[in-house]
Amino acid sequence: MRLEGKVTIVTGAGQGIGEAAARRFAAEGAIVIASDVNEANGEAVAASIRQAGGSAEFVRADVSSAADVKALMAGVQERHGRLDVLHNNAGVHETNFTAQARSFELEDEIWDRVVSINLKGTWMCSKYAAPLLAKAGGGAIVNAASIGGLVGYPMGSAYGPSKAGVVQLTRVMAIELAPQGTRVNCYAPGNTDTPMVQKYYSGAPPEQLKMVQQQLIGTHLIPRLARPEEIANVVIFLASEESSAMTGACIVVDNGTTAWRGLNEG
Ligand SMILES: NC(=O)c1ccc[n+]([C@@H]2O[C@H](COP(=O)([O-])OP(=O)(O)OC[C@H]3O[C@@H](n4cnc5c(N)ncnc54)[C@H](O)[C@@H]3O)[C@@H](O)[C@H]2O)c1
Repeated sequence: MRLEGKVTIVTGAGQGIGEAAARRFAAEGAIVIASDVNEANGEAVAASIRQAGGSAEFVRADVSSAADVKALMAGVQERHGRLDVLHNNAGVHETNFTAQARSFELEDEIWDRVVSINLKGTWMCSKYAAPLLAKAGGGAIVNAASIGGLVGYPMGSAYGPSKAGVVQLTRVMAIELAPQGTRVNCYAPGNTDTPMVQKYYSGAPPEQLKMVQQQLIGTHLIPRLARPEEIANVVIFLASEESSAMTGACIVVDNGTTAWRGLNEG
């Protein structure tokens, strides 16, 4: 096991990539703090990890709330006295909240919400986790960026900039936390088969399904959606000693989307 006894926080662990990562961390021997704003989902994931013989507890926290983040870290300090890994996974897309997602029509409040969760939440969790990571001898922070933060695409006017911000925050914190031995890296998934993406194709009328599929995987050299477990593999790598020479980096995990400028035949 690659992470035996490592105290690990996964934010947004209630479903999707966060859930897959929480399960993988536990399978690698980590003590998982599965955190989410959605209590029912987060509790269910933690319970099912325990049923499978792993170690997991659920802590409710909204990563955009400083009070919640401080309470999350204080609880980890009290119960475990240290933190080895912080996986900043929690994230939202403006289309979670509105169909009016283009840059010239997005409501101010939704911009603030997306940036507060994706970028400010990643910063706050990292800031308040840093002293706990130092106690563990450094540890690792693993941030969820996105190819939406590396290339432009429509309907991601707050999401794209927030994820570009995560890539840059990763570099800045890698510099500033290097003296305490904390490595900070991020990864940029392409379209991955989670509830965040499933809503685009699950509700599509049959006559539009092919078009929606083409939008989601038309640029994938590996012509399918990535699976959450495939992203979790990269998270585990960045959290473990296997990536001990890496900090400030961003790994693209996108089925080949950003490798070319083409489109598969539909
Ligand atoms: N699925 C993709 O195609 C894809 C691609 C690139 C990047 N990502 C990134 O990966 C991460 C996970 O995405 P996913 O597809 O699994 O999403 P998802 O919507 O399926 O799951 C997100 C989880 O985060 C939780 N969450 C939302 N707001 C929160 C908050 N304020 N505080 C705490 N938890 C909160 C949700 O309750 C949910 O459990 C996100 O940061 C996302 O931007 C996803």
